[in-house]
Amino acid sequence: MIVKVDPLKPEPEAINRACEILLNGSLVAFPTETVYGLGAIATNEDAVKKIFFLKGRPGDNPLIVHICDINQLNYLVTDVPVSALNVMNVLWPGPLSIIMNARESIPLATRGGLESVAIRMPAHPVALALIKGSGPIAAPSANKSGRPSPTTALHVFQDFGEDVLILDGGPTLVGLESTVVDVREDPWKIYRPGAVTKEMLEDYGKVRVVYANKLENPSQPAPSPGMKYRHYAPNVPVMLFREESEVPKDVRITVIALDSLQEVFDKTYVTFIGLGPDKQSAAARIYMALRRAEDFGQITYVQLMDQEGIGIAYNERVTRAAGSPRKLAD
Ligand code: TXA
Ligand code: MG
Repeated sequence: MIVKVDPLKPEPEAINRACEILLNGSLVAFPTETVYGLGAIATNEDAVKKIFFLKGRPGDNPLIVHICDINQLNYLVTDVPVSALNVMNVLWPGPLSIIMNARESIPLATRGGLESVAIRMPAHPVALALIKGSGPIAAPSANKSGRPSPTTALHVFQDFGEDVLILDGGPTLVGLESTVVDVREDPWKIYRPGAVTKEMLEDYGKVRVVYANKLENPSQPAPSPGMKYRHYAPNVPVMLFREESEVPKDVRITVIALDSLQEVFDKTYVTFIGLGPDKQSAAARIYMALRRAEDFGQITYVQLMDQEGIGIAYNERVTRAAGSPRKLAD
């Protein structure tokens, strides 16, 4: 069921009801500033297992634990490096998940069997109110494994139907999942780029980006299990382009690009899906655009953004979406 909530001032009745469901060991989908999450109480192993089951998610792919207060770290992680604490004080709440050493309080199921856990304080009143009422919430993106992440309540409904309560706080602002950074060793390692960039983190320590497709030894376990799975895959072939000249003429295709390109393409051949005026809006709309492209069932050409700021995360996601022309059976 979808329950509408005011994204800025969520109604206590809706939050209380959702908290009750969580505390009973069931799941609730809720908005964050990045994408919608599918939540369970992080310390309830049985509830967390339901997430893996419903998503069809491999058990070794750990979940992010969402908190609403830095003090909650005391019983979730063994130690917080001082430099990481500085980052949290400035960038939380926000689209940044920080990997630290987990305490036993977090079941192995939540952390995919790892010693570490990724923690994030989301910048969304609905998410924060929910966590306040129920305690830390483990939540992956609320999509079936391998599908584009949901940026509206309707996307969650498309993937899960009536199986979970969905709190509808409107479309998410950022539209791409949080940056994932491991701060346990120097230099810090970014496993997933997001709205919090390498440059922003470099104010606090040395930072290296680890690219999923450039792992030094592919037979070794991936440092972040999410890297080895194919994500963000629409069920139409996806091609990438920078210049309009790279897009074929006289064939029926779908084009996903900044609005400024709309006039450039011949309407008789091209189904155009606009991403708005700039890379910020492109990031916010790309998953919705990929889902819409599936409805048209045509080869889909997606515009790359310049490799700066949120453009880096956007390019990484669409590159993964284009990873293979056909959807894998997962
Ligand atoms: O913005 C987000 O992060 C959203 C919202 C709901 O908060 N959540 C999200 O979760 O994107 P998910 O499960 O779809 O992606 C989590 C990623 C996965 O790639 C996972 O492998 C990685 O974070 N991850 C989580 N815990 C980790 C850990 N302890 N070590 C390495 N990677 C970890
Ligand atoms: Mg995900």
